[in-house]
Amino acid sequence: MKILILNGPNLNLLGRREPDVYGNEGFDTYFQSIAKRFSDIELEYFQSNHEGDLIDKIHDVGFSYDGIVFNAGAYTHTSIALHDAIKAVKTPVVEVHISNVMSREQFRHTSMIAPACKGTIAGFGLDSYRLAIEAIIGMNN
Ligand code: DQA
Repeated sequence: MKILILNGPNLNLLGRREPDVYGNEGFDTYFQSIAKRFSDIELEYFQSNHEGDLIDKIHDVGFSYDGIVFNAGAYTHTSIALHDAIKAVKTPVVEVHISNVMSREQFRHTSMIAPACKGTIAGFGLDSYRLAIEAIIGMNN
């Protein structure tokens, strides 16, 4: 089974960025721990601050991988292009957020990508990614 974890803008700064909201752990360290936990799965990680790169990556893996765990960062709230990219591919996408976006500012309450995704997991810190992986495994069993 192949799963891509895809992180959007500013998520390269995890561990340093607003630690009160996003925690103190960098994503590279976290990725090592889940790669170990799910050692029977091929887990890949890609991050970009650029919308087009995220679209290209969805196109690249979206007809062959078993799932995409996608934290689109702020593009979640704005990007019709990412919505369309998710719709365009066959691979199921699970939307993920570290913070509980519904308990934050009003502008974070809208997700442009949610209607194109299988489901959404938000508010469990970095553990949101693990929960999304479990969801994809469940879908494939
Ligand atoms: C986020 C929530 C978004 O509103 C924000 O723009 C992010 C991170 C999260 O993981 O909680 O960059 O997607």
